[in-house]
Amino acid sequence: MKRTTGVKIKGIGRCVPELVATNEDYAKIVDTSDEWITQRTGIKTRHISNGEPNFFLGAKAAKEALAEAGISADELGLIICATCTPDYYTPSEACLIQRELGAAGFPCIDINCACSGFVYGVDMARRYLACDDMKYVLVVATEELSKFVDYEDRSTCILFGDAAAAVVLEKQDDTLFSSFTAADGSGAPFLAARALLTINPFRAEEDTYDMRMPEPHRHYLLQEGKEVYKFATNALPLAVSKACEKAEIAPAELDAVIPHQANVRIIETAAKKLGVSMDKMVLNIRDYGNTSSASIPNAFYDGVKSGRIKRGDKVCFVGFGGGLTYGAVVLEY
Ligand code: COA
Repeated sequence: MKRTTGVKIKGIGRCVPELVATNEDYAKIVDTSDEWITQRTGIKTRHISNGEPNFFLGAKAAKEALAEAGISADELGLIICATCTPDYYTPSEACLIQRELGAAGFPCIDINCACSGFVYGVDMARRYLACDDMKYVLVVATEELSKFVDYEDRSTCILFGDAAAAVVLEKQDDTLFSSFTAADGSGAPFLAARALLTINPFRAEEDTYDMRMPEPHRHYLLQEGKEVYKFATNALPLAVSKACEKAEIAPAELDAVIPHQANVRIIETAAKKLGVSMDKMVLNIRDYGNTSSASIPNAFYDGVKSGRIKRGDKVCFVGFGGGLTYGAVVLEY
């Protein structure tokens, strides 16, 4: 096992909306059943925004993480907010969260790497912290997938929920740390949600540019389920293997793997490929569904709070999602 300069997770926080939608609730709006959803995905319930904005969830998670870290928001050097469901194009979620924290005077950045956002965020935080001009970085992942889920499409709407989770990170010398992040833009059409259309008084009436994307005029999340499934079952083990290789540790030596919570079957297939037993996989998809970038820190939060993950454990965060993006971080908690 290689020791290097990495990050210490000083505090964690989480916030989920109180409103809960069960499989039975979905069976009332689309042609589905608890049995189908449970068997194909492992999901039973998701938390859904009852009107709370995305930044509100993120700020609450951030406050808890700061309290656990025992630092004030003024001591932060940077906020990185991972989200693909922001409340505004501008200002960023990170700026809105900074405002809610009552702080100012340091940079705030949003990153959109879909479900890999938390992994990318931790990787970026470590690189910023290495420059020694800031002491603490807050990484918040906050998502409201309910904004662009098509509640008439039974193959997607049953998968997604809303949540936020955050970590306060500090530089740590002589520790376990490695990261691997990657993307393959050729898979962009497999998981896509449209932003605003190009509308202005000067443009031609007909589209002249081929977006090479599905249904470019709808803002709903569109998904090629089978393509994403195939990608995920390869990307998850690949990312863990690459990060472990850099850290000179075998995947089986990890104490816990916290995967993106997309589908239990994806995680089971990937665990088999990796030679890691399912009891090392930290799961809470049953209660929250897929909450994109928030799903990894949300599962980590439950793992820590339940005592399943302890200080000193060798853990791996691994994400995959729209982009297509993927990546993993190995660190000592
Ligand atoms: N309830 C009941 N039936 C459903 C359904 C639902 N919610 N959703 C789809 N079906 C039906 C399909 O219409 C299809 O019916 P047909 O055979 O009559 O055409 C049948 O179930 C099988 O569909 P299929 O797409 O083959 O199911 P699947 O086993 O591949 O499961 C997903 C579908 C979406 C759960 C699965 O492909 C998946 O998890 N993909 C990855 C998605 C993902 O992780 N996205 C986020 C990544 S970050």
